Amino acid sequence: MPSTGEQRTLSVEEFCTFREYIHEKSGMYFGDNKLYLLQSRLAKRMDDLGVATYRDYFYRVKYDTSHREFDELMNLVTTNETYYFRNEPQLDAFATAVLPEILEAKRKMGGPKTLRIWSAGCSTGEEPYTLGIIIKEALKSEPGWNVEIIANDISDKVLQKARAGEYEGTTLRYVKPDKLTRYFDKNGEKFVIKREIKALVKFVQLNLNDTKKLSMYKNLDVIFCRNVMIYFSDDVKRKIVRAYYQALASGGQMLIGHSETLHGISKAFSLKYYKGALVYVKDEGGKDEEKISGSSRRTSTQVPRVASSRAVSKTGAGEPSGATKALELLKKIKARREAQEALAGKVGG
Ligand SMILES: C[S@@+](CC[C@H](N)C(=O)[O-])C[C@H]1O[C@@H](n2cnc3c(N)ncnc32)[C@H](O)[C@@H]1O
Repeated sequence: MPSTGEQRTLSVEEFCTFREYIHEKSGMYFGDNKLYLLQSRLAKRMDDLGVATYRDYFYRVKYDTSHREFDELMNLVTTNETYYFRNEPQLDAFATAVLPEILEAKRKMGGPKTLRIWSAGCSTGEEPYTLGIIIKEALKSEPGWNVEIIANDISDKVLQKARAGEYEGTTLRYVKPDKLTRYFDKNGEKFVIKREIKALVKFVQLNLNDTKKLSMYKNLDVIFCRNVMIYFSDDVKRKIVRAYYQALASGGQMLIGHSETLHGISKAFSLKYYKGALVYVKDEGGKDEEKISGSSRRTSTQVPRVASSRAVSKTGAGEPSGATKALELLKKIKARREAQEALAGKVGG
């Protein structure tokens, strides 16, 4: 009888194989403490497929030429937490300073009235729709603007929900009642985002680690990449931030998650401080490669190349440790698990 998800255990070696693969493909890096998380997330899918071992599942993902199983894996391993009007101080800075400044500059230039925003790692759509509402409010007495919000994610599952635009529950907790009435239609328990906002947003399945595809994006006025890069290794962050720099129009601005930083990642942006928010502005003087990539020196935050399961560890956000430390930690995890299993065996009889 094939073992069920609850009985199966992901070995340290299998964990390393998955994390190296996931890192190489998506940029997401699972620290050593994420073994159980990965084990439980994969187990359910394996049960559904009737796949007995993690090794078999790995090959299933790797050699699926349709990429369907890779998409499934991404649906399983991504963290998609989001909600409307997330981080209000930051959005206030966008609404009252960043956006008016960009609009004013464009009015003065007298060129086409276009506004291009990118919501990178948009999850189920709350972020781009929030931006749509803010922009709609800002331009309500000034028609004629062509607004485009590009919203991407690696997970096709979240994009499906984003495109449907139907929400209920806690994700709406920070939407003010007047905005709820103005920008949503009620359908039973659900609030459906209105067509006028939906029409502003273009959802695309795009892997941010695919910098070749990223290089097709140009002339963006603002990039929101919030609570996404925290899952990436520093090397991948550098690569993606470099692509963001190229994608931004001159004077373009970028907002990242409030717990995130570009320190040690890029020096190509100047910083603007607002009440409760920090905005990165494309610095035209930052074109030289060294500035864009943060620094040419190897720092302690440099993430080692994930070439070998035995050579790599990263225990927390941006803090890689050496191979020895990694192995020690993995050994500890293994020992703890064995102890827990032994205990469970005793308790369960
Ligand atoms: C925690 S959510 C953040 C959503 C939103 N930006 C916010 O701040 O509320 C992170 C999203 O990034 C997406 N993501 C992770 N790795 C990605 C990649 N390589 N390419 C595109 N999206 C990715 C995940 O699927 C997830 O939906």
